[in-house]
Amino acid sequence: MHPLEPLTAAEVQQAVSILKQLGRVTSTTRFVSVTLHEPPKDRVHSLKTGDAMDREAFVVLFDNALNSCFEATLSLTKQSLILWKHIPGVQPTMTIDEQVECEQAVLQSAEFKAALKKHCGTDDTSLVMVDIWSAGNYGDPEDSSLRLARPLCFLRTDPTDNGYARPIEGLRPVVDLNSMKVIRIEEFGVWPLPPEPGNYSADRVPNQRTDIKPLEILQPEGPSFEVDGYQVRWQKWSFVIGFSAREGLTLHHLRYNDNGEDRSILYRASLTEMVVPYGDPGPTQRRKNAFDVGEYGMGMCANSLELGCDCLGLIRYFDAHLCTSRGEPLTVKNAICMHEEDFGILWKHTDRRLGTPEVRRSRRLVISSVSTVENYEYGFFWYLYQDGNIQLEIKLTGILSLGVLPEGQKPRYGTMIAPQLYAPVHQHFFNVRLDFDLDGVANTVQQVDIVPDNIDEKNPFENAFLAKAQPVATEKQARANLCLETARTWKIINPQVRNAVGEPVGYKFMPGDNSLPMASKNAWWRKRAGFVDHHVWVTPFRDDERYAAGDFPNQSGGGDGLPAWTAQDRPVENTDVVFWYTFGHTHIPRPEDYPVMPAAYLGFLLKPNGFFKENPGNDVPPSAGKSQQKSCCH
Ligand code: CO
Repeated sequence: MHPLEPLTAAEVQQAVSILKQLGRVTSTTRFVSVTLHEPPKDRVHSLKTGDAMDREAFVVLFDNALNSCFEATLSLTKQSLILWKHIPGVQPTMTIDEQVECEQAVLQSAEFKAALKKHCGTDDTSLVMVDIWSAGNYGDPEDSSLRLARPLCFLRTDPTDNGYARPIEGLRPVVDLNSMKVIRIEEFGVWPLPPEPGNYSADRVPNQRTDIKPLEILQPEGPSFEVDGYQVRWQKWSFVIGFSAREGLTLHHLRYNDNGEDRSILYRASLTEMVVPYGDPGPTQRRKNAFDVGEYGMGMCANSLELGCDCLGLIRYFDAHLCTSRGEPLTVKNAICMHEEDFGILWKHTDRRLGTPEVRRSRRLVISSVSTVENYEYGFFWYLYQDGNIQLEIKLTGILSLGVLPEGQKPRYGTMIAPQLYAPVHQHFFNVRLDFDLDGVANTVQQVDIVPDNIDEKNPFENAFLAKAQPVATEKQARANLCLETARTWKIINPQVRNAVGEPVGYKFMPGDNSLPMASKNAWWRKRAGFVDHHVWVTPFRDDERYAAGDFPNQSGGGDGLPAWTAQDRPVENTDVVFWYTFGHTHIPRPEDYPVMPAAYLGFLLKPNGFFKENPGNDVPPSAGKSQQKSCCH
């Protein structure tokens, strides 16, 4: 087993039982997460075949009776506790059990039933959906002294229709998750229920189109990858798949076999946080923002793709081993999907004089996972290509978070999408942590700006421009935003390792679509999400700097994470560096995003840039499958 493979189901249970045997678990303790405690990086890099390494677990616990968070580091190999730490004044990620229990607490509350009767004319809660939403932090004393949710509620018209089409706008129950009781119902006047259904399931959408012929991908000799546990080899790539309750899918120890040399590229790639701030200041909407990693756990919300995966070809699935908040085994079957995809032309040239076209098809390896965070879906798709490219594509889909309007009113901060139903404007900010180890750990980040050259006698036609690569020396210097004027990119290099033309080996970071935050810096969510202040951050590698908004963003007062770490202004040149990227999607909803939203795409690309001697895809042979091509025209 590779030392970076995620914990097995048995190891998760072992961690739970060690803590129980040591008396660290009471009837009011919740297991928030049990994950691999990764071994030190230098040991992984110097690993020889056959070496065994101690397996360790990192556990986050929360005691509802004490309103207290604890962290434990355990040796699974030695069956012992290495470290036990009380973390005062924080609220860790909410668990799936709390989502379910919170909904039940609201549905059983007499006060809620009475309010429902007043607002919707019924006290039958069987058609009510209650989505846990963290109470966040708005400076109220209870925001930092209680474990709180302020759920959004919806009323279905029947047991299986789309309940999100009917928000109960005027009601906001507030739930103390420690006592699991509704502590009050906040009311904002009585609002109508939108009159029309908004359904998307096949049984409710009549006249499904009938002109789609089968499209099948055949791989008669099987896939081109090899899998051993969570280790994968695909053509010249090798890596380890990771998974945790908080981050979801992670990639580790990504390497490329370059003519027999096993070269390191990325040590660890992970989603560290994401936040969805809404832009409507109305009393029922102004508190809406969701930290989907730190508040809800992207891995905890992962789909079992056993129940629905629309990938084509030969699929290899991987399970995610988690546990319930009481420590019972919880395996998300097929949480990760891996398959190959045809991706059009890799390269082509026809020598006109020789009449010899050379064309190669591109194939990519897709490693993906999809999470459902209440109404929204996020798909995380990592792609590896034959030309050395690495890509992350996030797919945003699912159902918009909606609001209600009285008849005849139009929203100022949103889009009407159905009668009396509107979708408030919002943004989605993701942060990804890329721990590069290009041919070794000591790397440097360069900010690359393209600038027109001076107009002088050397530039008589005024056509000159050039790339200026500025090495980033310190953390504060590294903070930067995208810049269209200079087509800004970043390059990660290893200054000690030279390529065939004598330059440092490097990989280019190519940003995709992005946004800047629209809310003021004083907005409550922005205090807690300082990572949106810049698109790019660079830090020296630290094991314990993992999450852009800090370890405990749930209900936090803010100030943690990237802004705090980088305020130290540590040197980041020619050292083990971590590149952090914040990217935002500004979503002004459309009627076409309803009732279910077609996927929107967001991401970035990593391109080898002087890492290889030449096009690494030069040796891809021509496709054999000419016979599969059939002409449809006669
Ligand atoms: Co959106």
